[in-house]
Parts: sequence; C-alpha cells; structure tokens
Amino acid sequence: VIITIDGPIATGKTTIAKNLAGKIGFIYFETGAMYRCATLALIRAGIDFRDEQMVADFMSHYDFDMRIHRRECRYYLENQDVTEEIRGHPVTNAVSAIAALPVVRQRLVAIQRTMAEGINAVFEGRDMGTAVFPNAYLKVFLTGKEEVRARRRYEEVCRRFPLEAEQITYEQVKREIAERDAYDTGRLTSPLRQPEDALVIDTSDMTIDEVVQLVIDYKDDMKVAQESKE
Ligand code: DC
Repeated sequence: VIITIDGPIATGKTTIAKNLAGKIGFIYFETGAMYRCATLALIRAGIDFRDEQMVADFMSHYDFDMRIHRRECRYYLENQDVTEEIRGHPVTNAVSAIAALPVVRQRLVAIQRTMAEGINAVFEGRDMGTAVFPNAYLKVFLTGKEEVRARRRYEEVCRRFPLEAEQITYEQVKREIAERDAYDTGRLTSPLRQPEDALVIDTSDMTIDEVVQLVIDYKDDMKVAQESKE
C-alpha cells in the first residue's frame, strides 16, 4: 500500500509524512532529500548542469544512499553523512534547477519505484501522486497560505542554521520560496500539480497532529467504505 503526500514548500509535508508513517506503521520516504543528494553529488563532481549529456552520464552511475540510524534517516554521499549539508544554502539554491532535468528525474523515479515494491510506505514529494505512483491507495495534497509558509520556513532556518539566518531576512525567505514554488510548478517534466483524486488539506491554521489525524480518519473511512462494498 502506498500513500503519497505532495505540496509546495513549507506546508509541513515532511513532518506530517514522518508522523503519519510512524502512527500507521508504514515506512517513510522523503523524496526531496533524494533530489538534494543528487544535487550535492553533481556540485561536488563539478558538473555543468547545462550540459545534459554530462549530467546523464553522471546520473547513470549515481546511486542513492540512505541509512537508518537510531530510527532516523541519514543520507550519504561517498560514505560521508551529508544529512545536514543537503539542507544548506548552496544545495537549496541549485536543487530546483536540477530537479527540473528529465535525466535526473528518470533516474530518481526508477529508484523510488524500486524502493516501493512490496512494502507499505508513505512517499512525500512533488509528483508522487501524479507521476510516480498514479495508482496510490491514498493521495494527499497539502497547501497553505504564502505568509504562513514563509514564516515557518524562516523560523526553521533560524533554528537549524543560525549562521545563515544572520545573513537572511524574512522577506528574502518569502521571495525564495515563491521562486522555488514557481520553478517546481512551471517545469515541463512532472511539475508540481494537485492530483485530481487527492485529499486536499490547507495546513495554515492546523497543527501537525491535526493534519495527521485527519489523514488517518480519512484512510479509515476509505477502508470502511471499501469493506461495505465487498
Ligand atoms: O521538499 P524539498 O524542498 O526538500 O525538495 C527539494 C527540491 O526537489 C524542490 O525544488 C522540489 C524538488 N522535488 C521534486 O522535484 N520532486 C520530488 N518528488 C521531490 C522534490
């Protein structure tokens, strides 16, 4: 069984997906981290993102490396833990452009589908319900007011990267979020779109627990409806 969670930046996707998976005993995959790892790998290899052939050659050998440590996902590149580094500004600035490249998406989507085989999982990203798992059991699409999302992301940067936060203002974060959302929505390959059959939740005025409970209730109702049909 696959549950997908998609939506723009700072709608609470990652935390909601993680908590939901924990509560229902599913495995959880954050596919944004895969795009971030691939971006860091390309940056480190000094590959010119505009050279599609070079990117394609690199991606054909690229393997995603995720390990569970004390119940937390850690991300690795060449045996080095890059879990923190992939959240920093250099990767964040480049990732939307990398994620728009078809050769990058093809490789990562293939890895995602392989990981999903035969398991119960929550997959979180931008195109999970539309392109990667169009037949998912349950699709969730999270939205939120721009102001609220920008405030959340700014507070997250202050908390996680205090040094970076000194160089950045709330207004700047808000602008960058709008730019990245526009990039993710406007790209040609698998743009961010609300799946037609998704449960849509505006998370602006809700707590994480409320959203998670709403999804669980919806899933239970689906099950009851299905059982009564049988
Ligand atoms: O969720 P995030 O901010 O960590 O995602 C990083 C980037 O990767 C973002 O620009 C969108 C892109 N992404 C994507 O194109 N498809 C996915 N399934 C997940 C993320």
